[in-house]
Amino acid sequence: MQTKGLPEQKLKEELKLRLKGDFTYESGRIIGSMCTSPHPLTRKVYLRFLGTNLGDTGLFPAVAELEKEAIRMLGTLLSNPEATGHILTGGTEANLLALWAAKKLSKKVDCEVIVPASAHCSFDKAADLLGMRIVRAKLNDRFQVDVAEVRKAVSPKTVAVVGIAGTTGLGVVDPIDELSELASEEDLYLHVDAAFGGFVLPFLRDLGFTVPDFDFAVPGVYSITIDPHKMGLAPIPAGGILFRHESLRKMVSWDIPYLSGGETEQATLVGTRSGASAIAVWTVMRHLGREGYRRIVKNCMHLTLKLAKGVQNIKGLSIVIQPTMNVLGLKSDTINIRRVAEKLRLKKWAVSLFPHHIRIVVMPHIKEQHIEQFLEDLNRIVDELRG
Ligand SMILES: Cc1ncc(COP(=O)(O)O)c(C=O)c1O
Repeated sequence: MQTKGLPEQKLKEELKLRLKGDFTYESGRIIGSMCTSPHPLTRKVYLRFLGTNLGDTGLFPAVAELEKEAIRMLGTLLSNPEATGHILTGGTEANLLALWAAKKLSKKVDCEVIVPASAHCSFDKAADLLGMRIVRAKLNDRFQVDVAEVRKAVSPKTVAVVGIAGTTGLGVVDPIDELSELASEEDLYLHVDAAFGGFVLPFLRDLGFTVPDFDFAVPGVYSITIDPHKMGLAPIPAGGILFRHESLRKMVSWDIPYLSGGETEQATLVGTRSGASAIAVWTVMRHLGREGYRRIVKNCMHLTLKLAKGVQNIKGLSIVIQPTMNVLGLKSDTINIRRVAEKLRLKKWAVSLFPHHIRIVVMPHIKEQHIEQFLEDLNRIVDELRG
C-alpha cells in the first residue's frame, strides 16, 4: 500500500481500465456459468444496507427478521414453510453445514457420506474439513444416482446420503423419493443439493413440466441447499441452507458472548456476514413473486430447447441428454470436445468444460440473439474440426 491515498476519480479511472477486459453478463458471452446479472432492484438495496452484519443480530434485529422471512419464503417454495436456516455465502457453505449437522447428529467420529458421482466438489471440501470419508455412488444411464449403488455403499459408518436436484454438469434430478426410502430404512440423514434446481423446478412444475418431488414434500429429506445467487437473481454472495426442523439447525449453532449487540447465536460457518445479502434475497423474492420467476424460467427453458434443437442439427455434435432444466450438455463421438471448447473460448464464449462434455447454462442474461450467434460460431467451429 502506498503512503498517500489516491483521489476517487483517479481510482475509478484505473478500475475502469484494469477491469475492462473481463467478461460481462450483459454481453451474453458468459454462457457456461450458473451466476447471472443480479436483479436491478437488488443492486440498490444491497448498496443501501451494505454495512449491516448478520453475525451480530443484536445490532440488526430487523435485518435478522427479514432473513427469517426470506427463509420462510424459500421454505414455502420447497414445501415446508416451517423450515429454518440461513442465507449464506453460497452452495459450498450450505452443503458443508448440512454435512456438519449430519455428523453431529449421528455422534459418530469415524463416518462416511454417500454422494452421487455427479456431486459438486463442495462435498469433497466439506468431507475433508469434517474428517468424513466421501463415497461416490455410480450413476444410471440417465445420469441420476443409481439407488442400488447407494444401497450397496451403506456401511455402519454411513451417516448421510446426498441427492441432487439439478446436477452441476447436466441439471439432472436424482430420484429423491427412492433415496428417502433408503435413508429412512437405514436411519440416515438425507440432504438434497438444490443449489441450482431449487429456483427452477418449482416454476417448471407451475409451467406444466413433469417435475418429481425433490423437496421437503419427500418425508426423509432433512435439509436442502438452495442458492439465491444462481437462478434467484440475487447478488453474490447469497446461498441458502434450509433444515426441516429447528433442532437440526441447532446442531451447528454456537453461542457468541462478546458482541456489541449482546450475546447472540450463529449457525453459519462465517461469523461476520452480509445483512445486505439477506435483504437483497428478501427484496427480489417479494418483487418478482412466483409469477416473475415463472416468466424468467419459462424464457430460459425456451432458449435451452432452442439451443438443444440447433445443436442436434450440427453434424458431429449432439446433446448428452434431453435437458431437464436450463443446463445443456454438448458432446461428440467424432471430434475432441476439448478442442471445441478451446475454439469457443478463442471466440470469447465462456463455456464450461467437463471431462466428456461442454456445459451450457442458459441463465436469464442470455437472450435469443446470443443463442443464434453461439449456434453460428459453434457450427463453424465443428465444421473446421471435422475438416
Ligand atoms: C449443485 C451445486 N451445488 C453446490 C454448488 C456450489 O455453489 P457455490 O459455488 O455457490 O458455493 C454448485 C455450484 O455451481 C452446484 O452446481
